[in-house]
Amino acid sequence: MAQYQNIFTRVQVRGPLYAGVPMDRPGPFERQTPLRFNYWLGKFGDAQIGPIYLGWLGLASLMFGFAAIEIIGLNMLASVHWSPQAFVREFFWLQLAPPLEKHGLDFFPPLKEGGWYRLAGFFLTISILLWWVRMYRRARALGLGTHVAWAFASAIFLYLVLGFFRPLAMGNWAEGVPFGIFPHLDWTQNFSLRYGNLFYNPFHGLSIAFLYGSALLFAMHAGTILAVSRYGGDREIEQIVDRGTATERAALFWRWTMGFNATMESIHRWAWWFAVLTTLTGGIGIMLTGTVVDNWQEWAGRHGYGTQTITQQVARTAPGSTAPGGSSGAAGPQSGNTAGGAGGGASPPAAGPTQTAQNTAAGEQVFGKCRTCHEVGPNAKAKIGPPLTGVVGRPVASVEGFAYSETLKKKAAEIGSWDKDKLQQWLTDPSKYAGGQVKMMFKLANPEERKAVVDYLETQK
Ligand code: HEC
Repeated sequence: MAQYQNIFTRVQVRGPLYAGVPMDRPGPFERQTPLRFNYWLGKFGDAQIGPIYLGWLGLASLMFGFAAIEIIGLNMLASVHWSPQAFVREFFWLQLAPPLEKHGLDFFPPLKEGGWYRLAGFFLTISILLWWVRMYRRARALGLGTHVAWAFASAIFLYLVLGFFRPLAMGNWAEGVPFGIFPHLDWTQNFSLRYGNLFYNPFHGLSIAFLYGSALLFAMHAGTILAVSRYGGDREIEQIVDRGTATERAALFWRWTMGFNATMESIHRWAWWFAVLTTLTGGIGIMLTGTVVDNWQEWAGRHGYGTQTITQQVARTAPGSTAPGGSSGAAGPQSGNTAGGAGGGASPPAAGPTQTAQNTAAGEQVFGKCRTCHEVGPNAKAKIGPPLTGVVGRPVASVEGFAYSETLKKKAAEIGSWDKDKLQQWLTDPSKYAGGQVKMMFKLANPEERKAVVDYLETQK
């Protein structure tokens, strides 16, 4: 038997040039594309090229997609002062950022403060939705099921959650993901940090399980089909009921090794569901983040599967929490009997050196959240952010050679040096404090953590 093998093809797969089955509802566009063979494509799969059916939907989708990419590209080019060399050199770092936070859910913020981003997002979404309709309609026109379109819909769901539903629920378009290679990676990293280690989000866990599951199913399936291709494994479905065929061998192989086998049909359902659930669970996980759950690690702790959280530790060691009667509010039931307990008596312990040390220790813990981007200590180097050695009392934006944002440099001229109060305000919301977009995308929402980390920074000379 001639053996068809894709990628490592020994025999080029070349049927007669064929424009495809006649359709019940052919649509307005004829199949005009000239048909031909391509030897090199024949190395990877079928050598025939065409016909392509573009149609009005396809055409409109491409035009909207082009508009979106133009807007993104030209904005990136403008951000390097229209220098093509800089564009190429810095491409991976360039971005079109979402609207500034101060514009909230404004329908159309000023172009340079997020309006372009909204336009690009709008066009891209139209383009994707049109492409979805096109896939659905082509499947129907060919008399097929619409499984592919529905799987695609699941991916569109995740896309819409990231850029539309969640920002809407958070009440701010600034929550959207920037367009750009590294900037969107930074966004992802910040998103996890900001919401307390996103990996404790069970939907993220599910999404990853389905993602790896998809890869596993793909590997098992592809491996099986290739292994039985010498018996005609590509004719799967009809072979479910055949005997002595590729299917029977493939099924037997898995029953021998696992005691169970998916049928040639059901394995495709497995794969479809795993792929679809990857994006569905991913989207649900993102949607809940910041809208319903603010800190996944803490959330996990409350549901019995997290480690003790930094916030709880800070609450326990913060001066207020040792007062009898526990009026600090944040710490809950355990606040009455912590650090001062051993000394006995009703008088609250003075805020002596021990307590300061404890607070510094808590601050050092909190600084764990900054370490991805900042170092402290005598040999601290710049990472994503500047080194923070001696930052209390240091002039703002003054580390030699670090590429600060223009916004922070302007703010520096206004406020001079950092003190503990300014630092706390900065950490609450850097962009808001500086009055524009700064490069630090991280906020420290908890006031006790803010205080603790600034106390700690003061000790790092
Ligand atoms: C995701 C990365 C990231 C995280 C996490 C982060 N920062 Fe930053 N930080 C930056 C960047 C980038 C800048 C520079 C900002 C600019 O130029 O607009 C910065 C600037 C600063 C500055 C101003 C420094 C100067 O020289 O004026 C301080 C202070 C600071 N960060 C403190 C912190 C603290 C404290 C934490 C943790 C609670 C933290 N940052 C977490 C990235 C980060």
